[in-house]
Amino acid sequence: MFETWEELENSCLNCKKCGLCETRSHVVFGMGNPNADVMFVGEGPGEQEDLQGRPFVGRSGQLLDKMLDAVDLDRNTNIYIGNIVKCRPPKNRDPLPEEQEKCIGWLRNQVSLIRPKIIVCLGRIAATKLIRPDFHIMKEHGRFFEKSGVLMTATPHPAALLRNPGNKPSAFEDFLKLRDKMDELKIR
Ligand code: URA
Repeated sequence: MFETWEELENSCLNCKKCGLCETRSHVVFGMGNPNADVMFVGEGPGEQEDLQGRPFVGRSGQLLDKMLDAVDLDRNTNIYIGNIVKCRPPKNRDPLPEEQEKCIGWLRNQVSLIRPKIIVCLGRIAATKLIRPDFHIMKEHGRFFEKSGVLMTATPHPAALLRNPGNKPSAFEDFLKLRDKMDELKIR
């Protein structure tokens, strides 16, 4: 465990714990406010993220930013965005369980330094890793679960919403529920 954000980030940027380091252009450590009360966690970088070294900068990131904006959230001010794996899986395949397991320590260290009150999992991979292995994203999204003093919730991955736009309204309700929960907890 690293005690400072700088040490953690520097060490993560040099990570060679799994094979994804061989094919990456950049480690995508995360972005946002490390003092935020709300943290979003995706599954792993895609092509644009790998090229730019920042999370959610492709088409799904644009959709995410719109939904965030609708509930007064902004990746540059009041949230932090990270991923389960920090390096792009080739051809955007799902990260393998062993890659997730090797990488998760970075995220746990990020969580221990940020100490968010709420963690929002973006999609099935993040939800099954962080909430429960048998978490059913389409049945259980929008609900809140308490785990070690942190409220956890999940919403469908924005890339899945781009493939199935019919699911956008119910996913948007998750963002409204998140806003209600933040208001209840007096989080800005
Ligand atoms: N999808 C993710 O899960 N994470 C990113 O950073 C980009 C796309």
